[in-house]
Amino acid sequence: MVDLLLGLQWGDEGKGKIVDVLTKDYDIIARFQGGPNAGHTLEFDGIKHVLHTIPSGIFHKNAINIVGNGVVIDPVIFRKELDNLKKFNIDIVSKLLISRKAHLILPTHRLLDAASEAAKGKAKIGSTLKGIGPTYMDKTGRNGMRVGDLEFSDWKQKYRALADKHEAMIGFYNVDVQYDLAELETEFFEAIESLRKLTFIDSEQYLFNAQAEGKKILAEGAQGSLLDIDFGTYPYVTSSNTTAAGACTGLGVPPNKIERVFGIFKAYATRVGSGPFPTELFDQDGETMGRVGNEFGATTGRPRRCGWLDLVALKYAVQINGVTDLMMMKADVLSGFDKIKVCTAYHYKGESIDHLPYNIESNHVTPIYTELKGWSADLTKLNHATDLPKALNDYIAFLEKELQVPIKIVSVGPDRLQTIHR
Ligand code: GDP
Ligand code: IMO
Ligand code: MG
Repeated sequence: MVDLLLGLQWGDEGKGKIVDVLTKDYDIIARFQGGPNAGHTLEFDGIKHVLHTIPSGIFHKNAINIVGNGVVIDPVIFRKELDNLKKFNIDIVSKLLISRKAHLILPTHRLLDAASEAAKGKAKIGSTLKGIGPTYMDKTGRNGMRVGDLEFSDWKQKYRALADKHEAMIGFYNVDVQYDLAELETEFFEAIESLRKLTFIDSEQYLFNAQAEGKKILAEGAQGSLLDIDFGTYPYVTSSNTTAAGACTGLGVPPNKIERVFGIFKAYATRVGSGPFPTELFDQDGETMGRVGNEFGATTGRPRRCGWLDLVALKYAVQINGVTDLMMMKADVLSGFDKIKVCTAYHYKGESIDHLPYNIESNHVTPIYTELKGWSADLTKLNHATDLPKALNDYIAFLEKELQVPIKIVSVGPDRLQTIHR
């Protein structure tokens, strides 16, 4: 049995927190796409952890964590993540398994990312500059290096040929990218040696066997549906399928084995990096959301753009992913707003529409809002659904009616315990 958990907006919905909350009910947590562009935060016992590549079930003794074939791994960042875990005495060799088919991010992929962004000038994607785009380009271009290559003696030749090609490509962009490749390579080769100490598996086979044994698997997504390479706000997207189908290709799980699809969304909306965001606020309300929600990127530290919940976009994400259960995050951040606004339609080409059109740039769509009453109670100490203020229950009921999917979890703070089940 396989359940999926994925973000329904532009990432940073709180996936790390909820995977950590749910892990007690699963035997295996498996990341299926993305790479260290992700920053998944979880908090318990007063400590905050940020994971980039390692699945968010790693702190639970009961679960095996798998980095699936759809993920791209930067050995240098991976090593830092492992170093951060050292003090927690986790048996990494038996608890963290890596797919041989996962692709490797080379130092030159990062440089290519920087060159590509610099060449785009004002039209830049706002990439995290972790080399994600260039690595997936090499994957689909059939040039990439995979974890499994490290088990063969010619991997360094493969590396050299690819890195040399990348250097020529960096020149092609004709932009100023400063680097010392020798230094980057020393760090990379050391990190590869750390990676080689871990357990490499044929993860699709492992997951097949696990299913045959009746194990419960939770697939952890990265980024969000609106950053999906096919269905997101292209070209301002990431380079992988962040939607439900990505779990099939990113883990080798057949679609008919997927049971529940958990869709996570914030009670409002945020976006980091460039690209359209119809409900973005440039006023005091947006500033309040950013400040109270502490909206700074977990990977890059950049401030996140904030705005009201966009139900047109959320409905689209629920539809594309086949969401069965919704989870609403950061409800506590909206405490204190007199009015809560929700975008229920767009004004587009002279009419009102409730589906996502091809282009949602601000010169094409204007959000149409429904206003609901706000609440002022501090939610962060609440434990039961029955304690939620009426105005929040009305907000939840309104969203459930619009989305036609139940909201099963309401999150009221970053800690594991600040989670209300309904
Ligand atoms: P992810 O990428 O989806 O895992 O999300 P991030 O970790 O990038 O961003 C979510 C941020 O919100 C983190 O700093 C979390 O600690 C925090 N967070 C998660 N849930 C809640 C919540 O219900 N309330 C508040 N105030 N913060 C939350
Ligand atoms: P998690 O898993 C939020 C955004 C970047 C940029 C675009 C492309 O923590 O939710 P990339 O580095 O992939 O080439 O960047 O996607 N982005 C994210 N935004 N959360 C993430 O991950 C993101 N990963 C990438 O800001 O706009
Ligand atoms: Mg994040």
